[in-house]
Amino acid sequence: MSLFRKKPMDYTIRQASGKNGLQKAMGAFDLTMLGVGAVIGTGIFVMTGIVAANAAGPAIILSFVLSGIACAFAALCYAEFASMIPASGSAYTYSYTVFGELFAWILGWDLILEYGLACSVVASGWSAYFQELMKGFGLHLPTAISAAFNPGNGTYVDVMATVIVLLLSAILLSGVKESSRINDIMVLIKIGVILLFIVVGVFYVRPSNWSPFMPYGFGGVIKGAATAFLAYIGFDAVSSASEEVRRPQRDMPIGILTSLGICMVLYIAVSVVLTGMVPYKNLNVGDPVAFALRFVHQNWVAGFVSLGAILGITTVLFVMMYGQTRLFFAISRDGLLPTSIAKLTKKSKTPIYSIILTWIMATVFSALIPLDELAQLTNIGTLFAFIVVSIGVVVLRVKRPDIKRNFKVPFVYVIPFLAVLSCGFLMINLEAQTWIRFLIWFGIGLVIYLVYGYRHSVLGQSNNQQNE
Ligand code: ALA
Repeated sequence: MSLFRKKPMDYTIRQASGKNGLQKAMGAFDLTMLGVGAVIGTGIFVMTGIVAANAAGPAIILSFVLSGIACAFAALCYAEFASMIPASGSAYTYSYTVFGELFAWILGWDLILEYGLACSVVASGWSAYFQELMKGFGLHLPTAISAAFNPGNGTYVDVMATVIVLLLSAILLSGVKESSRINDIMVLIKIGVILLFIVVGVFYVRPSNWSPFMPYGFGGVIKGAATAFLAYIGFDAVSSASEEVRRPQRDMPIGILTSLGICMVLYIAVSVVLTGMVPYKNLNVGDPVAFALRFVHQNWVAGFVSLGAILGITTVLFVMMYGQTRLFFAISRDGLLPTSIAKLTKKSKTPIYSIILTWIMATVFSALIPLDELAQLTNIGTLFAFIVVSIGVVVLRVKRPDIKRNFKVPFVYVIPFLAVLSCGFLMINLEAQTWIRFLIWFGIGLVIYLVYGYRHSVLGQSNNQQNE
């Protein structure tokens, strides 16, 4: 049954603190910033308007509450795992110790899909916002290089998406401490801009805009929740940083839960103000938050908000790329992908080849695949990971009650169950096409594991040596 060989938990922890481990430079504050940086971005600045106009109407407020609750259940499960296993690789690492190698690989492969596609979605969104800003100064890119491959529209490659991913790769290469400091500054600016929108916008709210509150019925609210879910993705990236945290047992749960809480409050506040300022039907635009301010003739505030949105989306992209590089690092350190990918640079101890691989993947996807398809696939991949982590928490409580947990999920037979139920519900609200692509991706992953990972697994090789 070596397909299900499990990595002992003590081994995982040793591996993280040994000579191949990453530098430990982060605290609870940095983690919270990393979480907020990952979560608030394209969702609040771009998708709020689209969901309100096409799916939920002003009841988008409820959509955000519903998907936020689903995430909160899953976040609690993530927090327990993270406080127990401080090793790079997030849910992938967790499932290696709980469900064994094959399942860990499947989940790791799923997370590569999630992060890789999320990087591409967000890079494309960044490019669109940036180009809008450039237009304000009379600068236009040639059409051919302005968006993803779509010869029908005359576009072949999204150059700005490639550029921003390359710039952030360079920051990641400079070492984690510097990287998180840059992230902290950008997150503070982003929150400032959102608060500015709320404080100015609230004076232009007309309660009549909230009626009808649910123009598409409760079905619309659910559909909105399945789409708005993308807006919450990112807090799980915090758990992929646990190997670089000074006191993971204490700081990880604080980081994950605080960042999710802050985001939820801001989302709800923004959607209340936004739908109060502008009739929901008018919100089907690429920059709804800035649009609402222009709608009430607050043009200078709108300009600030646009700039903040670009910074906000940058931080999301940064954390997504960070998560992806650490995931490649963890998987290849285990030998399931070539171990050379896990090599660290001597000076800053950053996984250089993982960073290059992330850059290539994000560039290729954002250049070739249309945005809406990318977004749906990102959602399904993430929801699947949430479900596996939630089940894993319960399994591990039963099988290894002895392990020290600084943070425990309250009502452990209820909350993980609710996480599985709510995430599963959102999953079945996604399109059949998305499910088919998701399964094809898994087929490819399975072949890679059987042809390469199974033979090269570090764990498998050390088990073989012990048996000889
Ligand atoms: N949660 C991330 C965003 O909204 C993906 O941009």
